[in-house]
Amino acid sequence: MPKKIRLGILGGGGDSLIGVLHRVAAHMFDSYEIVGAVFSPEHEESLDFARAIDIPLNRVYKDFDTLITEEMKLPESERMQVCSVQTPNFLHFPMAKKLLDNGFHVICEKPMTTTYEEARILQEAHRKAGTVFAVTHTYTGYPMVRQMREMIRAGELGKIHKVDARYYQGWINPIIHDRSKRSTVWRLDPEKAGISSCMGDIGVHAFNMIEFTTGLQIKSLLCDFNYLYDDNQMDVDGTVLIRMDNHVKGVIRASQVATGEENGLAICIYGEKGGLRWEQERPNFLYRLSDTQSLQVYRPGHQYNSELALDGTKLPPGHPEGIFDAMGNIYRGVARAIRGEAYNSGEFPTMTDGVRGLNFIEATVASHKGGNVWVDLD
Ligand SMILES: NC(=O)c1ccc[n+]([C@@H]2O[C@H](COP(=O)([O-])OP(=O)(O)OC[C@H]3O[C@@H](n4cnc5c(N)ncnc54)[C@H](O)[C@@H]3O)[C@@H](O)[C@H]2O)c1
Repeated sequence: MPKKIRLGILGGGGDSLIGVLHRVAAHMFDSYEIVGAVFSPEHEESLDFARAIDIPLNRVYKDFDTLITEEMKLPESERMQVCSVQTPNFLHFPMAKKLLDNGFHVICEKPMTTTYEEARILQEAHRKAGTVFAVTHTYTGYPMVRQMREMIRAGELGKIHKVDARYYQGWINPIIHDRSKRSTVWRLDPEKAGISSCMGDIGVHAFNMIEFTTGLQIKSLLCDFNYLYDDNQMDVDGTVLIRMDNHVKGVIRASQVATGEENGLAICIYGEKGGLRWEQERPNFLYRLSDTQSLQVYRPGHQYNSELALDGTKLPPGHPEGIFDAMGNIYRGVARAIRGEAYNSGEFPTMTDGVRGLNFIEATVASHKGGNVWVDLD
């Protein structure tokens, strides 16, 4: 049994949304051990949380810079090998950059940075570091999303011609209509979230899902945002027309004010030989549509699935795979990469996905602000 990988956590404290997902994912395949952290900007809060989850306190640092300084003093055999960045968006770039510059592997939440320029700087730092870098577009870790990717790669849909990804949430509806409430949410603060709320937070997942499953790149887009109020600087809803390679066209729809919607991510890919449809709120069903045959439903765990999908399934068919499993699969892929073991490129999103994501977010803002014009991606 290889030794556990020494993992440091940045953000993801007891008050956070996403921290528990990362911690469970890291432990799912017994590959990681959390050896230290900065869970919060308040040291006492970090220490309290470390006590609550029983992490040794001597490596719970007062801030990120201290973490780097102190960890670099340790022998390599004890030092954190990988750090997972789970803070609000504006901290991803400075943290990930310094980690790479000091030779750490990095797992980074999305959006990878707050600007495309930062993303490209990070890409260069990563090239120099040569370490493993993963961006946690969690949904790519679901077995049925992996199955979708593998079926498309195997040509089962033939030539792709239409894509449709939708990510609808409603949680900003109770907040957006009250100006004082708006200012309490970091996702509506450009200083903390970056230039976009809705596209930066969830539209970018939909974008990534399209490129992950089809293997094609979005070449240009036209975006129309809704801000709901003139004094609100951040989009809370948007519709994006997209053009990809080879006459493939489609749409990305994202909303944080789709009243009553929970986490409604859905993706449909249509080709000359058939279509595939997957919905995040029913993740164990992958629908295959055909002109000539009855509807087929793929389910996780069955031997008819691809190797990549089966690798992401732990229990026999009928035991639902959920969001924790999806993130666990991503962490397992990263562990394999850190250990120098063989892995499938579909096991985790990379720096390239992170850079593409920022290219997408900035293009949507440029398109909307330019008067709903077509904008090319690099
Ligand atoms: N992959 C996904 O599906 C997914 C889902 C939700 C959130 N996210 C991303 O995860 C990140 C965090 O989102 P969240 O909803 O958990 O945010 P959150 O506000 O709930 O939690 C942020 C955490 O970061 C900590 N933090 C803030 N400043 C810090 C600092 N200077 N040093 C150390 N810790 C600090 C806070 O104390 C808190 O524990 C965001 O980038 C978000 O886009 C990704």
